[in-house]
Order: sequence, then C-alpha cells, then structure tokens
Amino acid sequence: MRPDRNLALELVRVTEAAALGAARWIGRGEKESADQAAVDAMRLMLDTVSMDGVVVIGEGEKDEAPMLFNGEEIGSGDGPQVDVAVDPLEGTRLTALGQPNAIAVIAVAERGTMFFPGAAVYMDKIACGSEAVDAIDINATPTENVQAVAESKGVEPTDVSVVVLERDRHEQLIGELREAGAKVNLIRDGDVAPAIAAARGGTGVDLLMGVGGTPEGVISAAAIKCLGGALQGRLWPRDEGERKQLVEAGFDVEKVLTTDDLVAGEDVFVAATGVTSGALLRGVQYTSDGAVTDSIVMRSRSGTVRRIEAQHMFAKLEKLVGSSLR
Ligand code: FBP
Repeated sequence: MRPDRNLALELVRVTEAAALGAARWIGRGEKESADQAAVDAMRLMLDTVSMDGVVVIGEGEKDEAPMLFNGEEIGSGDGPQVDVAVDPLEGTRLTALGQPNAIAVIAVAERGTMFFPGAAVYMDKIACGSEAVDAIDINATPTENVQAVAESKGVEPTDVSVVVLERDRHEQLIGELREAGAKVNLIRDGDVAPAIAAARGGTGVDLLMGVGGTPEGVISAAAIKCLGGALQGRLWPRDEGERKQLVEAGFDVEKVLTTDDLVAGEDVFVAATGVTSGALLRGVQYTSDGAVTDSIVMRSRSGTVRRIEAQHMFAKLEKLVGSSLR
C-alpha cells in the first residue's frame, strides 16, 4: 500500500486551536466559559480537515448542544468517511481551577467503528501500556492486577503507580490498591490524559483504574489503539433504573469491552494538545508575542507517534482569522 494522508497531522491544528481557546480561561473559576471557548475554536477549525466526518461523541444531543452535537457532520466533506469523537476540553474544572492534566482531544476512525455510548454515562476502566496488555483483567481484584502488572514490567508492586479519580465510589478500590503496595495518584478530574500516559510509557503512570465517563473511555481506547497498550471497560449503571434503561436500549452491561470493542477501526487517528501541564503534555505557555502548544499526534495503522511543539504568533494569526487571539 502506498503511503497516504495522515489525518492526525491535520487534526492537531484542531486541538491546538481548542487548547489556545480554553487556555485563556485557566484559573478563572469559570468552567463553562473555558469549555465554550474550546468548542468555538475547535468547531471553526474542523471544517478545514479533509474528511467526511460524523460526530459520534461530542457535546451531547442537538437540542442541548448547538455545536459538535452527536450526529453533526463535520470536516471538509472530501476524504474518508469517518466517525469522530471530540472532547474540546477534557477537564473543564481542572482548567477553571488551574490544575494539571486538562487537554483538548479528537479521535477519528472509519465510519461505523466507534462504540456509541448513548445513555451509558459511566464505565469502569482499567488501562495500561504494551508490556502489561496480558496482565490486566477487569474481573480480577485490584491486588491481582497490581501484582500481575508489576511482574510483567519486572518491578515490585510498590513501584506501580495507579491513577484513580478521587470519588467516593472509589474508596474501596483506593484502599485495596494501597494495601497491595501500589502508589495511588488521586486526580480531581480528567481520566483521558492518564489513560494515554499509561499506554505511552515513561510518564510515571502504569495504570488507570476506576469508574469514569464512557465517552472518555472510547477516546482513551482510540489513543491506546495507536500506542499499543490495552483498555478494558464495563458499563457502570448508577442504579437499577439506569441498568434497566441500558439493557432496554440494547447495551450489554455485563460485557467486558476491549479496546477493539470500543474502537473497531484499523485506521485510527488521534490528536491531543495540553491545556494545563500534566503527565502527558505541557500546557499552553504564553510568550510576549504569542503562545507555545505541546501536542501528541498518532495513527494506529502506522504506529507513528509524534510530539509536536508549535509556536503561534498572534499578530500574524489575527490577520489570517480576522479576530483577536489575546
Ligand atoms: P469535565 O467535564 O470537566 O471535562 O470532566 C471530565 C471527567 O473528569 C472525565 O475525565 C471523567 O471520565 C468524568 O469526568 C468523571 O465523571 P464524574 O465527575 O461525574 O465522576
């Protein structure tokens, strides 16, 4: 097969724009404004990407989200027919509070190959890098997982770092992980960046565990498909009513969803840009005449992972876009 277009290289402009939009709101205590700025900037840039895309994971249903709603057609209309998962600002609260690990992220895969989360809000997840693919098992206990991952990496359980969202629902998980000797890194929000960091390796994150958003699980799976780790998930209804609703909608709430169940495509593209600095990416840094962004760009088919640092010159860009970026 001859080399073809790598869409991820176009998608990075989209996440850079979203990150630059959101970064203006870092530490200002206004998460809605930060999210809106990211959505506006991302939407503006998306139509430049050579794809015929449909949003599978976006900002919600059309009546509540005027932009990037599920089902919206995006891209230039030329190029491949694809499913698109976007999170213009993953970590709205992190951005508002000036805390680490907020990112802008987009994932693209062949049409019809992304898991549609529908009303499945939460998913239990475990994610790791390539060395531990055969070690993790969402049905095993946290202790068993820590021991197996330590063994696969040739380290002690006390060397294993596990990122967990700081939530009441994780009290038992956290206790057992500590009991097993693992280092538990509690985060306030944003489980996509640590899932990607676990798969990337060399980031100080070995595992991501616990219940987070289902859409975030699909986006993480897309990145992990490119990087070569694994994610296992299981839908996590909050109560009996939600469980019934999901079953009636055709979801199997017992099934262990693998990386391939979440993103079945074989030509997956992902781009992410840091908004605030974290284990995966550096946040937006301002200079006297612009800003510097740090992004990661990947494609599953080739396995190429690029780190892209970009300098944005506000005066020149303002002439191009016709509005202020300051
Ligand atoms: P934002 O909406 O601020 O982007 O938060 C995202 C997030 O923290 C995800 O990373 C995570 O999967 C999910 O929310 C957890 O949901 P909850 O806060 O309801 O426990």
